[in-house]
Amino acid sequence: MLKPEVEDGEQRLADPQFRADVLDGLAAKPRAIPARWFYDLRGSELFEEITDLPEYYPTRTERAILEVACPAVAEIAGRGRAVVEFGSGSSTKTPILLRAVAPDAYVPIDISGAFLRESSRLLSDQFPELLILPFEADFMRPMTLPRAIAAVPKLGFFPGSTIGNMIPLMAVDLLRAMRTSLGVGAMLLVGMDRIKDPAVLERAYDDPAGVTAAFNLNLLERINRELAGTIPVEAFRHRAIWNDDRARIEMHLEATRDVAFDVDGRDFAMAAGETIHTENSHKYGGRDARILLRSGGWTPIAEWTDPDGLFAVYLAEAQAVRAAP
Ligand code: AVI
Repeated sequence: MLKPEVEDGEQRLADPQFRADVLDGLAAKPRAIPARWFYDLRGSELFEEITDLPEYYPTRTERAILEVACPAVAEIAGRGRAVVEFGSGSSTKTPILLRAVAPDAYVPIDISGAFLRESSRLLSDQFPELLILPFEADFMRPMTLPRAIAAVPKLGFFPGSTIGNMIPLMAVDLLRAMRTSLGVGAMLLVGMDRIKDPAVLERAYDDPAGVTAAFNLNLLERINRELAGTIPVEAFRHRAIWNDDRARIEMHLEATRDVAFDVDGRDFAMAAGETIHTENSHKYGGRDARILLRSGGWTPIAEWTDPDGLFAVYLAEAQAVRAAP
């Protein structure tokens, strides 16, 4: 997640990648903008609100699973590991793992230094004895972790079903990059949301209070703010659609009438009913999840789910490279 572009009323230069993604995405057919751009300051606040909604079950369900799973993970993984978390560890889930595993070190990785510093500060208040080594990097690519943990076996942590926001091709690339970064003997604890009744899924992504709609529409506000856009936000509506073939919830912004606007000096027009695709949230059955992990070079060794089977947490170990079957 990126640092907000506008803070305390101060206007900053927009991220060139944001500009390129928006201009390319609005010109493409079908139109699509990567979900990573949801998370400016307002978007991050709205996402926090989403995680508390009664309809949005993933956050609270995964937290309850981790309370049960983490002591078992500690038994299987053993002592003396470094926990490496992919994405900002600002959530309430990290302490559950750290308390159970009592690691030698904790390495939160995030592309945003601001989020990293803040989450590390909060955690060091709770775990004053723990060696915390914040690491600013794009974890989609293999990376060399801090030298202080070079000789320590790693336990990767990737909660929240964030892996579901990637198309399977990208998810496999990420799992492979994690395997390379974490090295021989590594383990990985990863959360994945499960396939379920589409009505439950669509409510989780289109809540009656309209928080998810505000989260989705904030992307247009952000474009107007940071890229001198003139998008008539009131002419768009939030859509959350279950795509059964691809086992994913898709979020779109649909034009409710013909609209014309410009962004960063470029003109765009959309007909009523046309959409901008803004997010995918893939859901995985147990076998799907295990195949995904194996495809990314990880052997699943344990898994936990809640009594209703809404969400699952998997523990996997890095596969040794084998030439023959
Ligand atoms: C961050 N990610 C795992 C959330 C999800 O469920 O896919 C993002 C989200 N989008 C709408 N609601 C939540």
